[in-house]
Amino acid sequence: MVQVVVQDSSAASLSCVALARARAASASASSASSTRATTHRWIPTGDEPLRTYAVEANSHITPPKQYLSRHGQLLEHAPFCERDLRAPNELLTGEDSDVEVYVKHRGQGPGGLAGTVHVIPDHPFDVVGWDGCLYPYAFNISDFEPITGRVHQPPPAHQVFEGANFVMCNFVPRKVDYHPLAVPVPYYHSNVDSDEVMFYVDGDYEARKGSGIGKGSISLHPGGHSHGPQPGAVERSLGAEYFDELAVMVDTFRPLSLGEAGTASDDGRYAWSWSGRGPSA
Ligand SMILES: [Fe+2]
Repeated sequence: MVQVVVQDSSAASLSCVALARARAASASASSASSTRATTHRWIPTGDEPLRTYAVEANSHITPPKQYLSRHGQLLEHAPFCERDLRAPNELLTGEDSDVEVYVKHRGQGPGGLAGTVHVIPDHPFDVVGWDGCLYPYAFNISDFEPITGRVHQPPPAHQVFEGANFVMCNFVPRKVDYHPLAVPVPYYHSNVDSDEVMFYVDGDYEARKGSGIGKGSISLHPGGHSHGPQPGAVERSLGAEYFDELAVMVDTFRPLSLGEAGTASDDGRYAWSWSGRGPSA
């Protein structure tokens, strides 16, 4: 199961995503062990609004296998390297006693999950050192080196992580297709085997102009529904050399269900934005 959760608060922006990571030696995607997640806490700083796009999975989230050697090291052609993955470098403690730890686990709730608040007498981060193979780490999207080409690069060129039955791709500011006859925006496609959730972080997403999409928007393209650039986007993109866009996509290989918040945030117009008809016309 994959969950896409978006939170919005009045705290500061974060430029990175913390993910639970386990080294290959101890990791098993099919394992039911409790090592799938690690205790962590978000501490936003600053005054700007915080918008998070949280992806939770019932498997480990790892770099794409095509970028890993058989020993688990990132290969030279990977768009990021081990130095870009930042582990905690200092101990951080909070309250001293009766600390609440929120534990998500298998149960009778939605999606077969349940939650428990586990109160422990001392802060779990109050330790004298840190060892082991499971730890949170941060990767800043600005450290992703985009892969570009003469003709359009398909989504796997943008892949940054993967888990069981889903991949994560990011679309970062980059030089675009440089064949003299190239059409820089994506071609129309029908992602037959994937539901596609896109979070538009920053910049100006070229293919979605005129659709109502802006910073902070999320789009859902369900599997089997053909889609592509909005009307006029192909013509506007001809001759472009650079796209200033920043977006993160999750492609799932199992169907997604819309939660209450997803349904409530539907603007009712996006699905019609290719046709010139519907509520936005
Ligand atoms: Fe798509």
